[in-house]
Amino acid sequence: MSFSIIGTGSGFPERVVTNDDLAQLLDTSDEWIRPRTGIRERRVATKETVLDLALAAARNALDSSGIGPEELDCILCATLRGDYFTPSLACLLQGALGADCPAFDINGACSGFLYALDVADCYFARGKAQKIMVVAAEMMSKLVDWKDRSTCVLFGDGAGAVVLGPGNDLLSIKVTAKGGAELLRAPNVHGNSPFDETEELPCVVYMNGQEVYKFAVSSMQRDVQEVVQQAGLTLEDVNYILPHQANIRIIDAAAHKLKMPRERILTNIDRHGNTSGAGIPALLDECARAGTFHRGDILVMSSFGSGLTTGACVLRWSGAGKEQKE
Ligand code: COA
Repeated sequence: MSFSIIGTGSGFPERVVTNDDLAQLLDTSDEWIRPRTGIRERRVATKETVLDLALAAARNALDSSGIGPEELDCILCATLRGDYFTPSLACLLQGALGADCPAFDINGACSGFLYALDVADCYFARGKAQKIMVVAAEMMSKLVDWKDRSTCVLFGDGAGAVVLGPGNDLLSIKVTAKGGAELLRAPNVHGNSPFDETEELPCVVYMNGQEVYKFAVSSMQRDVQEVVQQAGLTLEDVNYILPHQANIRIIDAAAHKLKMPRERILTNIDRHGNTSGAGIPALLDECARAGTFHRGDILVMSSFGSGLTTGACVLRWSGAGKEQKE
């Protein structure tokens, strides 16, 4: 026994920041950003907290699942940083929803949603839960250096959520890690211990873009092939791939290597940029509500990120929410 997705949701800040808006702040332009990344605009928090975004996504997902918060047996939040070190974002969300279940955060960076699905799968396999909420919520605008044009233009804020119930729609899943902080990192706050002799590092994202790009394309190709094979399927059986929304050129290059027709690769990076782990569940929610999926469709999710981590899975769509097609 594993799980089926019975509800989806998403939540974004109100403020839209276009590439032209960024050109007012930095030495950059729509002409540079759009062809290299596929990003046209992103949402950036002004008054919203990470909890606000998580709560909006969670409430939408509960609403589409038709269950109440009291039915949840566990809440898993994938996030790089909640509003507090402690309590966890998941605990704050549990309180705000009025749920009565264990709740904890998972930091798998941009692969966090896939890591959380993998943990949820174990809960269902052991019969420890009947309903699990997984929420990925990220506020990258508080992690990037707004003076570094090579990174800050890439990211956005948002949250995506799913409600899971027992079922057999997860056909395969894999997560990986290749530990190291060389290529992609955001150091923690230094604190003010009078005894600390370690070097204070800037608490902002550093990325070696070109190396991450190469890692992303090759790991996506490998992971998608592996999970599809593990599920006993071929790439021809796959209706849609939902890739991590990091860069349209990475997505196009991986699709080309997989020989997947481009129309079967779903994206919304043009409107949201890279919202880290929130990107895939928010895209899933958008497509579910738009009626993109039909019952029985085979979906593949594939992500990569800091860690370096990767995650991928194959799911059968059996119709979360009210808006889906037969
Ligand atoms: N606007 C204008 N110019 C910019 C810029 C911006 N926002 N960012 C960088 N540049 C400049 C650089 O300063 C450099 O100028 P120089 O040649 O005078 O030194 C030039 O553009 C090329 O920079 P480079 O970093 O080599 O560009 P790139 O072609 O590698 O593209 C990325 C940069 C970030 C778009 C690309 O490397 C990438 O997408 N990497 C993967 C990132 C990713 O997916 N991360 C997510 C991990 S979860």
